[in-house]
Amino acid sequence: MCGIIGYVGTEECAPILLEGLRRLEYRGYDSAGVAVHDGRELNVRRAAGKLTALGDVLARDPVHGTTGIGHTRWATHGKPAERNAHPHVSGDIAVVHNGIIENHVELKRSLKEQGREFHSDTDTEIVAHLVDLATQRGLDLFEAVRETLKVIRGAYAIAVLSRADSSRIVLAKNASPLVLGVGEGVMLAASDVPALLAHSRDVIFLEDGEMAEITRKGARIETVAGVAVERAAVRITWSLMQAERGGYKHFMLKEVHEQPRALEDTLRGRVLLEDGLLEPGEMGIGVDDAKAIKRVVFLACGTSFHAALHGRYLLEALARVPAVAELASEFRYRDPVVGEGDLVIAVSQSGETADTLAAAKEAKERGARILAVVNVQGSAIARMAHGTLYTHAGPEIGVASTKCFTAQLAALTMLAIHLGRSRGTLGAEKARALLGEFVQIPHKMRTALEGAKHVESVARSILHTRDALFLGRGLSSAIALEGALKLKEISYVHAEGYAGGEMKHGPLALVDRDMPVVCLLPSDSTLEKMLSNVQEVRARDGNVIAIVDDESVAKDLATYTIKVPATVEALTPLLTIVPLQLLSYYVADLRGTDVDQPRNLAKTVTVE
Ligand code: M6R
Repeated sequence: MCGIIGYVGTEECAPILLEGLRRLEYRGYDSAGVAVHDGRELNVRRAAGKLTALGDVLARDPVHGTTGIGHTRWATHGKPAERNAHPHVSGDIAVVHNGIIENHVELKRSLKEQGREFHSDTDTEIVAHLVDLATQRGLDLFEAVRETLKVIRGAYAIAVLSRADSSRIVLAKNASPLVLGVGEGVMLAASDVPALLAHSRDVIFLEDGEMAEITRKGARIETVAGVAVERAAVRITWSLMQAERGGYKHFMLKEVHEQPRALEDTLRGRVLLEDGLLEPGEMGIGVDDAKAIKRVVFLACGTSFHAALHGRYLLEALARVPAVAELASEFRYRDPVVGEGDLVIAVSQSGETADTLAAAKEAKERGARILAVVNVQGSAIARMAHGTLYTHAGPEIGVASTKCFTAQLAALTMLAIHLGRSRGTLGAEKARALLGEFVQIPHKMRTALEGAKHVESVARSILHTRDALFLGRGLSSAIALEGALKLKEISYVHAEGYAGGEMKHGPLALVDRDMPVVCLLPSDSTLEKMLSNVQEVRARDGNVIAIVDDESVAKDLATYTIKVPATVEALTPLLTIVPLQLLSYYVADLRGTDVDQPRNLAKTVTVE
């Protein structure tokens, strides 16, 4: 999600910035720009679209200088367009930013009251105005940035360049990545190591709450509170390819590990912890709209459909509104009964899936209100919908959806809480308790990820299996489906997901000692029933792999037990899916398949 590059050195920096941004392309972006200091002025060039468009602009209208900053923008606030591309300039100050400024609405209001004019729809422009104001009050650039950081809230990595000083770039980091590259008479900064490797293999990772100033001579690092930081550079030995994946063997594994951050970004600034309501702005569903909903229809495909099943369950439970989840590819071909009073929720990572788009259009034509739950700003489904609830998972490169799935679960859970509160079916105290636990989930997910080595050893034990079953009940039934989909799509092992109660109606016939049966056994309201289903599997010698939050539960039943932290029932899927993603990843990797680009599959399915 967004890429930052900064350079202070002796060479013409525009080509260096452009090349650095190219190394960050994998992060996803929809516009790009640079600001280069020519010794007197700041020259900004920006373009919507890919880096080739920025390259064309620079070829037509070159910039010269040896200090500059650059950016690839993945739109969050404001459409992907040239006016919203970074750098953003106010007075003498140019800023690039990765992340979200949570309190941008109030800050923008107050800046406008002070007569400041805005030229973009971004939250970032606020930073440029604030730093400019602080320098006008006489503060040096470093101190002006520090003052600004004291008033902004949220996630950011920023790089700031001032017309008044071509010798330095000021940087700051909180919850978005930023790394410095140390060279001979040259310093760089970037969102990720690959952008630096052509110039430096010695890097310094900034930590949250730190700021830095880079000049040709080196870096000065301090905490925002003013404590000097001494940190030695570390030598990077990864290949460029490895570096782009953050040292992970595959993008999928990287994305699985990025899930806690994706969740934090999806929740950030959205949930009003006190009353359990979401900011209605982007969704367009206020309290009265929520009360008017007669029925909810989810439309989605693949993994997003599994998230929709989760949403359906929680909406019924918390908002007491009838809800159905439909495969988008089937919906429009059966003359569906849908229309006024229906809230249709189109769930899609890409926002471009042809089946989901067509089904949502069909529902819109019949009078339903459309809410898009998508990860890509300005995507087709977001554009056609009446309102949008974005998941902020960042770009997902692996074809197998992982972090986008958990971000969808999180977004739909927030929505269910919001609708429950708005419709008066969910009490304030219960909502507060749920939200209080919700914000703990990223941390618990990190704990679940720590079990990766154990999951790998379980994967090794089922490496040569031809088939596998996944069982879960209640909210875990969607996770069983998702676990099976993950395994089949990347390892090519035939896998089926079932609601546990269905076993005795057919699939039990498949079970023998060669059949791995992955059983979701969190301590929830269906645990007892699930344990009966597991007994049925054990009685046929099935090889039980139990996903539990309490190891004593499956002690005498399971061949392997994988533990995740305990949480409340509504949030359990956010944790139990983690070992299933890892299991499919390791089975696939050990079998030597192309994990990130499995055969026959595409990341975005734009055909019906
Ligand atoms: O972009 P979408 O979420 O609409 O995509 C839907 C499916 O194509 C997608 O989830 C697919 O099933 C993934 N490969 C699952 O990992």
